[in-house]
Amino acid sequence: MSIKINPQEMISVPIERLDFNQRALTNFYIRLSSEKFVLILKTGQRADLQQIKKYKDQSVFDFWVHISEQETINNQIRSVAGLEYPSDCIDIDSKMEVLSEAIDTLFAFSSTNEVSEEVIQNSIQVTQSVVILMESHPSLQDILTTMTSIDDKLLKHGMATSALSVMIAKEMGWRSKVTLEKLALGGLLHDIGMKAIPLEIYKKPLFLLSDDELDWYKTHPFKGAEMLSRIGLISPDVISMVMQHHEKAGGQGYPQHLDLKDIHPYAQILSLADDFADLTLPNPNCPEPKDPRHAIEHLELVKGCPYDPLVFAALKKIVKRVASGQAA
Ligand SMILES: [Fe+2]
Ligand SMILES: [Fe+2]
Repeated sequence: MSIKINPQEMISVPIERLDFNQRALTNFYIRLSSEKFVLILKTGQRADLQQIKKYKDQSVFDFWVHISEQETINNQIRSVAGLEYPSDCIDIDSKMEVLSEAIDTLFAFSSTNEVSEEVIQNSIQVTQSVVILMESHPSLQDILTTMTSIDDKLLKHGMATSALSVMIAKEMGWRSKVTLEKLALGGLLHDIGMKAIPLEIYKKPLFLLSDDELDWYKTHPFKGAEMLSRIGLISPDVISMVMQHHEKAGGQGYPQHLDLKDIHPYAQILSLADDFADLTLPNPNCPEPKDPRHAIEHLELVKGCPYDPLVFAALKKIVKRVASGQAA
């Protein structure tokens, strides 16, 4: 049922910028005519994602909220993407320059285990750049080549995992910019907990770690989630991604040994992107990286494919296209 509201009291918010995986922070309306609005989602309710998709299919691109809720909405959007840095301000031609400038301080090992707000703001900028990069430059081979040229090990791995996560999600038909930016941010920051483990452990290949050192190493998802929680700016979805990026089907992963159904859907994508990046980019665990096709075979035959089947199928499709010479 429509209600009459003074349009001066309402503001529009692009649907693409809203996160419907969380409960609604305020009432959302659709505008029918200049003064008529329909309440479609109440504060605290969960959105029906199918219904949201239907609105978009019907060319409804904005929802409306009461002007008094503007700050609440801005905070939610800022917590994911940073309103201060709108995507269209980024010069696509200099995308890699933008990335390298923004990431200068990102993964510098500091004397403390804290993540500063500056690091988070930079991460958010990098995240937006990753999503834009994937929109303008989406070939798997290009991404791998670009990432190989980055020196810092943690940064290279984070960037590659970030880009691959977005690529897989897009292949699965995920379109929400907010979701893609969360995936990119989670991908970028997923190993930030490595900053909290001793450097000599971090530097060693996994197969050389003693049992005690391995126990230390395996704390990094939890330590990373803890660091990011303390900042207070990062969405709970991203924190779950960081916490769960080593969880695998059948409870084979760590630190919580979760079953696939209990792993956050974004973390399921991240987990595969993480393993694939490890196999295809040079790093101490894999000094001779595999080509994408052999990496897929390795994940299937050696690792036993402990991933969500739909997520794995999406990556396989991307790799198949690369192998057959089509753009990924
Ligand atoms: Fe990790
Ligand atoms: Fe990783």
